[in-house]
Amino acid sequence: MTSRDNCLKLDVDDPLAFARARFRIPDGIVYLDGNSLGALPVTTAARVADVIGREWGGDLIRSWNKADWIGLPLRVGKRIAPLIGAGEDEVIAADSTSVNLFKLAAAALKHQSPRRVILTERENFPTDQYVLQGLDSLLGSAVELRTVAREELLEALNEDVALLALTHIDYKTGAIHDMATISAAAHKVGALALWDLSHSAGAVELSLNRDGADLAIGCGYKYLNGGPGAPAYLFVARHLQEKLVQPLSGWMGHAAPFDFSDRYSPASGMLRFLSGTPVVIGMAAFEEGLKTFDGISMRDVQAKARALGDLFLSLVEEQCSDAGFIIGCPRDSSKRGSQVCLRHSEGYAIMQALIAGGVIGDFRAPDVMRFGFAPLYTRYVDVFDAVAKLADIVHREVWREERYRISAAVT
Ligand SMILES: Cc1ncc(COP(=O)(O)O)c(C=O)c1O
Repeated sequence: MTSRDNCLKLDVDDPLAFARARFRIPDGIVYLDGNSLGALPVTTAARVADVIGREWGGDLIRSWNKADWIGLPLRVGKRIAPLIGAGEDEVIAADSTSVNLFKLAAAALKHQSPRRVILTERENFPTDQYVLQGLDSLLGSAVELRTVAREELLEALNEDVALLALTHIDYKTGAIHDMATISAAAHKVGALALWDLSHSAGAVELSLNRDGADLAIGCGYKYLNGGPGAPAYLFVARHLQEKLVQPLSGWMGHAAPFDFSDRYSPASGMLRFLSGTPVVIGMAAFEEGLKTFDGISMRDVQAKARALGDLFLSLVEEQCSDAGFIIGCPRDSSKRGSQVCLRHSEGYAIMQALIAGGVIGDFRAPDVMRFGFAPLYTRYVDVFDAVAKLADIVHREVWREERYRISAAVT
């Protein structure tokens, strides 16, 4: 049996314990949803206030140069690079994950012509599927989208495939793909490998260059702590940068935007993957969020992510074995990201009761309760308290109250 005191001791010995002070976590809340929206870094409010009050209010348009607003996409990209095992010149922040997927998938497809197949998996996050479907319907016979089950992916990789587009860590189950093996299999048949890192960056140790990723995208608002609706980012391996031209060829991706030429000519390097004007306030908040990783070892982050997930699952097995939960994520922590999931037919109501009790996770239809452990601020004792609350809710059947069945727009 794991006691609360054991967990407090684990927190004392935690090499990342100091990082929790970098966040504002409300008293009385156990926050297990950093896999969906990262907590607020303590410095973000002042930074955003400064951008608005001094840079915008005082310096007005001069801040594009004076405060280097124009440099934000590359500057933010440089901060992301070491977290994902990429070179500083291989990452840029821009747009949303969905838009970046469109840009890179279209660019890859053109580069790989006459190949025209994009291969993905049925379990991929909906926006990834929808964007690829959109590209399919836009380009007609120039593209064929093949969507197969996860276990059929390797078999479906053949010499027709232009691009393999996958999400590295599954948004529901937390299951992790073997990036090195799958990228190598793609390369063997001449396909490019594109990875959505939305549930990976800031949660597990990544090495995009070592593991052969060609392209990657990801969002800023989960483990990277960029704030609600934060800009996203994209990665293009150095050897491909000058070979790809993306279709949202706006002026910010032009070689000389302030020449105002009437012909598009792409910038060199990552700048060509920009489209329009960066969202300055959101970029500044994102930059601040990334500072929470200063001095942090991603190896420590990954080790703690695994330990927190294991602790959660073993406490659920100890305390809730009679409650009808099915463990919906890999039990082996090396095969999972920094989240676990429990499946239950009353999962929605149970999650609402938990949230009302101060333990915040989320729910994904039809029956998945997700619990994310952002290693920079989640403590072992939080996990203990969360499972104790969960056990109380299921044993006393608190979730049966009518108010926990009302469905909200965002789950
Ligand atoms: C794997 C994955 N990709 C993309 C997104 C969202 O994309 P966007 O930032 O464009 O809304 C999410 C959101 O949770 C996600 O989990």
